[in-house]
Amino acid sequence: MFSETTQNVPTCVQSVKMERYYRLHSHIYDYTRWSFLFGRKKVIVMAADFVKPRRILEIGCGTGANLDTLAKTFPDASITGVDISDSMLNKSRRLLEKHGSRIELLNYNYNRPLRRGEYDLVLFSYTLTMINPGWQEALNAANADLSTGGCLAVVDFHRGGTSWFSGWMGVNHVRMEGELLPRLKQSFNPLFLSAPKAYGGLWQYFYFIGNKRIGA
Ligand SMILES: C[S@@+](CC[C@H](N)C(=O)[O-])C[C@H]1O[C@@H](n2cnc3c(N)ncnc32)[C@H](O)[C@@H]1O
Repeated sequence: MFSETTQNVPTCVQSVKMERYYRLHSHIYDYTRWSFLFGRKKVIVMAADFVKPRRILEIGCGTGANLDTLAKTFPDASITGVDISDSMLNKSRRLLEKHGSRIELLNYNYNRPLRRGEYDLVLFSYTLTMINPGWQEALNAANADLSTGGCLAVVDFHRGGTSWFSGWMGVNHVRMEGELLPRLKQSFNPLFLSAPKAYGGLWQYFYFIGNKRIGA
């Protein structure tokens, strides 16, 4: 039986902002995002080279496509997806029903750890650039939630090629000013990183795979 736990998310600016945006966008998300959210499957395939996780956490799981890929890539893992938008979680729930109780979905504002030291793989896929302010707290929380030797996998926007483009993404609640990669390199041991160009340089996105620093 598919299990969903809903945790109370006190109404906050981020939850209101995201739910207002995704109430409409959740319906067109899977038809449109393939054209610009590059690397989402690839980051999971790459993570599999570094970790064989028993427990996985995706932050900002959206409509659930990555959770579906994670479930197929790691058939023995139990998986948790958290998101702050009920509209997105409702889409996830429908898609993931076929996986039964292996996948847990929570309405959770990821500004603090969920279960310290429990997760061997934590994934942020196009989520950190939408948590602003607050992405630093989200990274601190991920560090705490990772098990010793656990892996963090991130794919996200790096920076816009023009101020026009970055401005347009800002209207869509995405902040892409190149600040994530330096902080990731500082806080986690890098295992892999690259920053390819999209559409000839209209923007750059990045992959980062790293593990928890010993003693962190
Ligand atoms: C661009 S979508 C990415 C969805 C999915 N990870 C993907 O790759 O398609 C960003 C998601 O992050 C969620 N989100 C934003 N802020 C969050 C927060 N503070 N805690 C949890 N989820 C959040 C949004 O509701 C949205 O579903």
